[in-house]
Amino acid sequence: MKIRRIAIVLTIGIILSTAPAVDAEDFSQPIEFSHKNHAGKNEIPCEFCHTYARRSNSSGAPSMESCIGCHRVVKGTDESQVEQIAKLIEFWNNKEIIAWKKIHDVPDFVHFSHKSHIRVGIDCTDCHGDIDQLDLLSINTMINDLSMGWCLECHKTAQPTINGKIISPVRNFRGGSIIQEVKSQAAEGTLTGSTDCYACHK
Ligand code: HEC
Ligand code: HEC
Ligand code: HEC
Ligand code: HEC
Ligand code: HEC
Repeated sequence: MKIRRIAIVLTIGIILSTAPAVDAEDFSQPIEFSHKNHAGKNEIPCEFCHTYARRSNSSGAPSMESCIGCHRVVKGTDESQVEQIAKLIEFWNNKEIIAWKKIHDVPDFVHFSHKSHIRVGIDCTDCHGDIDQLDLLSINTMINDLSMGWCLECHKTAQPTINGKIISPVRNFRGGSIIQEVKSQAAEGTLTGSTDCYACHK
């Protein structure tokens, strides 16, 4: 029992020490935004809002235009939704940018690009989990620690491919649930990432 507790404390220690520079204790965003309501229930594709999921300080955050198109009309149903959407409209009317806090964050000396992963068929959910099932995101909803060990574990594993794309769960749109498993198909080749220090530390 005691050993287990120590192990847990150590694990938490490691997670905290490698975690992005956001305070997990009182983490909150300027607006309470639910991925479950947008990507899940309303099936809005991830890329509609995260146009390129590119690295930037403002967290590859969606542009206001992508929100306002709908929220000129959609005012919310329950009290909390109405309140949060009213905040959004206020930001828009004041021409203010919403300063979303970044959650997933690798240190600056690490080179990471979404493009090189998405282009070979790795799905958003492989690295980020079932975001479309979550109401509020935070460090606690992250499914991995973004450590070097995590990157390397996948980079060392030969992933079966068809037509040069990694065989992973396929969704008919990026937003909704996984609808199709293609693991039963015969692989034609494999793909691995680089373990060369220079690939990730330029
Ligand atoms: C394709 C339409 C669409 C787009 C684009 C869209 N929303 Fe929504 N949003 C909705 C719908 C539908 C609801 C649920 C309203 C309801 O149930 O009455 C909602 C609800 C909300 C709520 C209430 C809390 C919640 O999440 O349920 C907030 C806040 C919100 N949206 C913010 C945003 C922001 C910020 C953006 C841009 C990044 C955005 N929305 C883009 C359709 C959209
Ligand atoms: C309607 C617009 C919208 C859609 C659709 C959407 N997102 Fe988001 N996403 C946001 C907004 C706004 C934020 C910032 C607020 C937050 O962290 O919840 C965000 C934050 C995130 C973050 C955390 C960013 C960080 O700083 O680490 C991840 C990861 C993410 N989204 C992944 C996804 C994935 C995967 C999908 C598809 C399943 C998706 N999103 C669909 C608007 C959207
Ligand atoms: C191979 C793993 C992997 C895949 C696949 C992946 N992400 Fe990420 N994502 C990351 C990592 C690592 C970060 C932190 C990057 C940084 O700090 O530079 C991140 C950060 C983000 C962020 C925060 C803003 C940013 O760009 O740093 C958003 C939003 C996001 N991802 C959305 C998505 C969406 C949407 C998809 C699918 C289109 C996706 N991710 C696919 C690993 C992944
Ligand atoms: C789920 C598996 C997976 C994870 C997790 C992952 N990668 Fe990759 N990554 C790949 C694969 C597969 C490729 C090879 C793509 C190709 O051959 O075009 C790749 C390519 C890359 C490349 C382009 C250079 C190269 O290796 O060909 C960089 C840079 C990279 N990854 C960095 C990272 C970093 C940094 C992390 C962790 C923060 C990470 N990756 C996490 C699977 C992954
Ligand atoms: C696939 C991507 C990838 C490759 C390949 C890679 N690293 Fe890293 N490395 C990372 C990431 C991500 C971090 C940041 C880890 C964190 O924030 O916890 C990191 C962190 C580090 C650090 C800082 C450690 C610390 O405690 O802060 C050193 C030093 C390092 N790497 C050296 C190397 C060397 C040497 C190699 C080659 C043998 C290498 N890396 C290969 C992704 C990679």
